[in-house]
Amino acid sequence: MTELKSSADESEISRDRLAELLNEDLAREYQAIISYVVYSQVLKGAQYMDIADQLESNAKQELDHALIISRQIDYLGKMPAVTPKPVRTSKNAEDMLRYDLENENETVRNYRDRIRQREALGEYAMAEQIRQIVVQEQDHQIDLATALGIEVPDVSGGPQARALHKRG
Ligand SMILES: [Fe+2]
Ligand SMILES: [Fe+2]
Repeated sequence: MTELKSSADESEISRDRLAELLNEDLAREYQAIISYVVYSQVLKGAQYMDIADQLESNAKQELDHALIISRQIDYLGKMPAVTPKPVRTSKNAEDMLRYDLENENETVRNYRDRIRQREALGEYAMAEQIRQIVVQEQDHQIDLATALGIEVPDVSGGPQARALHKRG
């Protein structure tokens, strides 16, 4: 599913490679903006009213994330990407929520790698910005999992994610 495997070795990467990876993150943020803009409006039914409102506010947070990541790419001297990852649609509300949750899981996994990679380069302020984004992505995971009536998937691999979430 992901081309990126986390490992200690991959924490040490070049700034060029980091910019490439951040552009993948940016493409995922665009994907999230688009899917939340659309899904928040097309989800129908009394049982989905709350989550539709949440998706609308998530869309705005994803735009903030895109701006932060874009700034980090520019700071690395690279051009921010302009193309979103593909957005899946469905007439089925549960499918839409599931697609969103899968994307959020992938996003959290990637940002956790990115935090390690930025820290390995000694860029603690940049790492902290991504940490703040992850706090919000984890809220999105919880919103979606709750609406689906399932457990929040643990993509964190440890207690750090829970500690991060409490800070939000
Ligand atoms: Fe995001
Ligand atoms: Fe998100």
